[in-house]
Amino acid sequence: MTTPLSPDFIETDIDQIKDAKGKLAVFVPEAGSLDVTARRVNRLTRGAVARLVGSETFGKLGVGKTLTLAFPANVAADAVVVVKLPRRPSVEQARKAGASLAKELGADPFMVLCGNLARADQVALGLCLRAYEFDDHKTADKDGKGAVSFMVNDAKGIKSASAVNGAIAEGVFFTRDLTNEPANVLTTTEFSDRLAALEALGLKVEVLEEKELEKLGMRTLLSVGQGSDSPTKVVVMQWNGGKKDDKPFALIGKGVVFDTGGISIKPAAGMEDMTMDMGGAGVVAGVMKTLAMRKAKANVVGLVGLVENMPSGNATRPGDVVTSMKGDTVEIINTDAEGRLVLADVLWYAQERFEPVGCINLATLTGAIIIGLGHENAGVFSNNDALSNAFLKAANAEEEGAWRLPLGQAYDDLLKSRIADMKNVGGRAAGSITAAQFLQRFIKPETPWIHLDIAGVASVKTETAFAPKGATGWGVRALNRLIADNFEE
Ligand code: BES
Ligand code: MN
Ligand code: ZN
Repeated sequence: MTTPLSPDFIETDIDQIKDAKGKLAVFVPEAGSLDVTARRVNRLTRGAVARLVGSETFGKLGVGKTLTLAFPANVAADAVVVVKLPRRPSVEQARKAGASLAKELGADPFMVLCGNLARADQVALGLCLRAYEFDDHKTADKDGKGAVSFMVNDAKGIKSASAVNGAIAEGVFFTRDLTNEPANVLTTTEFSDRLAALEALGLKVEVLEEKELEKLGMRTLLSVGQGSDSPTKVVVMQWNGGKKDDKPFALIGKGVVFDTGGISIKPAAGMEDMTMDMGGAGVVAGVMKTLAMRKAKANVVGLVGLVENMPSGNATRPGDVVTSMKGDTVEIINTDAEGRLVLADVLWYAQERFEPVGCINLATLTGAIIIGLGHENAGVFSNNDALSNAFLKAANAEEEGAWRLPLGQAYDDLLKSRIADMKNVGGRAAGSITAAQFLQRFIKPETPWIHLDIAGVASVKTETAFAPKGATGWGVRALNRLIADNFEE
């Protein structure tokens, strides 16, 4: 897998600066306020840093942005990158500064001179998140990155603070790797193997195979995968870091490893993007990895439905009626509305087996959510204001866009079927909401629940603040924070 960058933290040693090769970075809030380290670099470079920060360009530079001094005098480094940042930045400012630095990374070593800068660990996290690259399938043009070290005044203290950041970055990268992976590589079997490997971190992982799913009556889930040669699976990941008898919080993910649409086949243009249709399951996997790596003091269970939606002589037809594990029957009008069929059974199974204190599902569920919210916000649907508000707060703190949309009886009525208990589509109007209504039919009234429609945010075609083009890992940070702030002692 993509090897994540792991910056080294070393104790400040002013004498080392002169001889450091590659690039140096220093932080300066404004002209005239150079700290000990910046003053040292300034003296070595015969006043070039002070001249740069005294310039109009630096004056107008945004917080967290950089200016570069090329070929500075008297130091071994080829460049000094000056970052505009207050000595006590907010988490957001610190991470953004790190993301700016990520763009300066090259094959040469990079020494980031922090001194006593507050939140240097958050600068490092921002740098790591933005420096991620998915180049597993490139045989040429792999731009290997040079070593990154952070020179700080309290290397020991910062190393322990950044252990949690390491867990967050690894979780995000796990999600991104899974979501970026092509469907011939990430089959349902490969996906479940990668999840089973999380046992090494202390997670309990079970893989339910088709025979068991059949026995459990998960016919809506199985109907999606029946046209594919890849076997349908449900993977259950348990992290028990909380009190022994506390009921867990549940995370459920849509894991459609490829969505052709089935018999209601999608148009050819853009179909390749449907490799990311397992993005919800990817986020669940990433969060579970982060929780295990940071040994979260909470009980959390992650469940994913892994399935491939293919047309074949054996595939589900439009008009077929299937029975869910809950017992309700569904008339399948459109085989491309498959995500809700996957989630219906996994949501029901999660509630029957675990009686969770709350549950959040994630799914690249509807194209309509992209029409409504674009790529800036995921759609949030919930039956519980407290849980919904707690999630929105966590997402806001992590700068992961999320916007709540309504649910209601009139929308639910659009799912009425002539011949079965419901149909799987509600028509063109309010497509994301009727999809959410479908899911809510499989949520017990007493379960606090959120549905996150991440079709617009899981993978994007332009770079974002903390990710290059492609999979973003949206939601891993927000969900990790939601659990840390609300479900841990
Ligand atoms: N996986 C798609 C939704 C999607 C679209 C995800 C674009 C990411 C980007 C989902 O299974 C789907 O096909 N939904 C249909 C539902 C419709 C048939 C009611 C859609 O959005 O068109
Ligand atoms: Mn579909
Ligand atoms: Zn889909």
